[in-house]
Amino acid sequence: MHRRKVFPNGGWTFCLAALTLISLMSIISYFALAQNPEPDRATLLIHSDQPKGIINPNIYGHFAEHLGRLIYEGLWVGEDSPIPNTRGLRNDVVGALKELRIPVLRWPGGCFADEYHWKDGIGLRNQRPKRPNASWGGVDTNAFGTHEFMDLCEMLGAEPYINGNLGSGSPQEMMEWIEYMTSDSDSTLATLRRQNGRDKPWKVPYFAVGNESWGCGGEMRPEHYADEYRRYAAFIKNHSGNRIQKLAVGPSDANYAWTEVLMAQAARYMQGLSLHYYTLPTGNWGRKGSATSFGEKEWHSTLVRTLRIEEFIQKHSAIMDKYDPQKRVGLMVDEWGTWYDAEPGKNLGALYQQNTLRDAVVAGINLNIFNNHSDRVRMANIAQMVNVLQAMVLTDREKMLLTPTYHVFRMYKVHQGATLIPLDLTAPEYALDNASVPSLSASASRDSNGILHLSIVNLNPNRAAEIAMKVAGSAAKNVSGEVLTAATMNAMNTFDSPKVIQPAPFSGYKIRNDQVIVSIPPKSVVVLEMR
Ligand code: AHR
Repeated sequence: MHRRKVFPNGGWTFCLAALTLISLMSIISYFALAQNPEPDRATLLIHSDQPKGIINPNIYGHFAEHLGRLIYEGLWVGEDSPIPNTRGLRNDVVGALKELRIPVLRWPGGCFADEYHWKDGIGLRNQRPKRPNASWGGVDTNAFGTHEFMDLCEMLGAEPYINGNLGSGSPQEMMEWIEYMTSDSDSTLATLRRQNGRDKPWKVPYFAVGNESWGCGGEMRPEHYADEYRRYAAFIKNHSGNRIQKLAVGPSDANYAWTEVLMAQAARYMQGLSLHYYTLPTGNWGRKGSATSFGEKEWHSTLVRTLRIEEFIQKHSAIMDKYDPQKRVGLMVDEWGTWYDAEPGKNLGALYQQNTLRDAVVAGINLNIFNNHSDRVRMANIAQMVNVLQAMVLTDREKMLLTPTYHVFRMYKVHQGATLIPLDLTAPEYALDNASVPSLSASASRDSNGILHLSIVNLNPNRAAEIAMKVAGSAAKNVSGEVLTAATMNAMNTFDSPKVIQPAPFSGYKIRNDQVIVSIPPKSVVVLEMR
């Protein structure tokens, strides 16, 4: 009776309504699943009972070139600027960078290093020569020179890494710069340094002979560079207790022939060989891809390309192992990061780009790879520190914002100087079109207080990952952490909304007997601390 009232046309009407209800429910659950699909299931075994070597803090190094608005405006505003500063260096930027505990800072280039003549940048600022910046455009006032750079390093607590000029300089110029900076004697150059305001010599632990000498640094063949390197390196002298590690120009990307020649002919004269690799979403220097306007296709291709650095490190390391099985020579990845097309209307030579959640994921993946290869990778310097390429900080006159990459460096600093802990990670692939990447990237370390730190990146923008994690040797009793994620792949901080993307406390874990079940959100970077 009741049924008839509701379905006056009998059984057929009832069936139709039931079918409609079922299809409605499947449509709803389809959309719910599409938005909230089942998480990827992964397992992670942390071998805390098999500790490896120390993660060199210098893997968290930075790079500051005379390029665009990095030095001038980004760091240096001059003592008379209305922007609050200490001896000409802006307080907001230096304050933010101090939080990263920057271990080492490379300067003055890049391509600019091979056109830089250090004597232009000392003495009274208003009498310093103005020179065209032949690499990147504009005129350099030389207001920021050796003393200003060393002051910055001291404010940051970072060790200086000076990149010498091989391309257009001379061994004598290089030798004199080192004497000027590091000698405590009463030589004319050490006396000149004192007259210019610095009594005590500085320590210069790292000095490189040229930059990209196969390209902007002189278009050399490896055989020629190896000989030049040996000649210049002979004039890098240690003064007054300073001990310099000499770094040679290494390859970029997959230029294995360069590494082979350098290691065969000059390994015994160097402590480090550089490697440069930039992540371009498209892999095409003519149309690299936008920093902010991209879909999942470019998200995925960016991650495919950034992961290639692991293959480059492995293959260059294998060549180095042949000539240096004791791993005495470090592989210094002294330029890495994302490189996008300049924003429409912006100065092409300034290499200014915005920074999104995608950059945070790229940074997390690269730092995990460097940690995991820290037996050979002894230094890495992201390009670059402020306002250029994958920057930590962006400025617009008196305004400053922290990028998603900054937050990753802040979260990962716990790995600096800690002991690498090996991992067994099994995770599904994240596939798109014909390519696929592992959906998770991770590295772990134990610090001197015995605390275990685990950094995990979820590359998949659509699916969370549920990781069943075990710590071999000791079960984790207390877990805490931070997560960096956002609603969209291209979320970014802007000068109007500088806090769109920033780390939040992480609570996505459950301790179950000897396991920790961790739920990592899609497209995120998580750093956990376990005791
Ligand atoms: O980081 C920008 C430039 O990229 C550097 O000056 C050069 O070394 C590299 O080609």
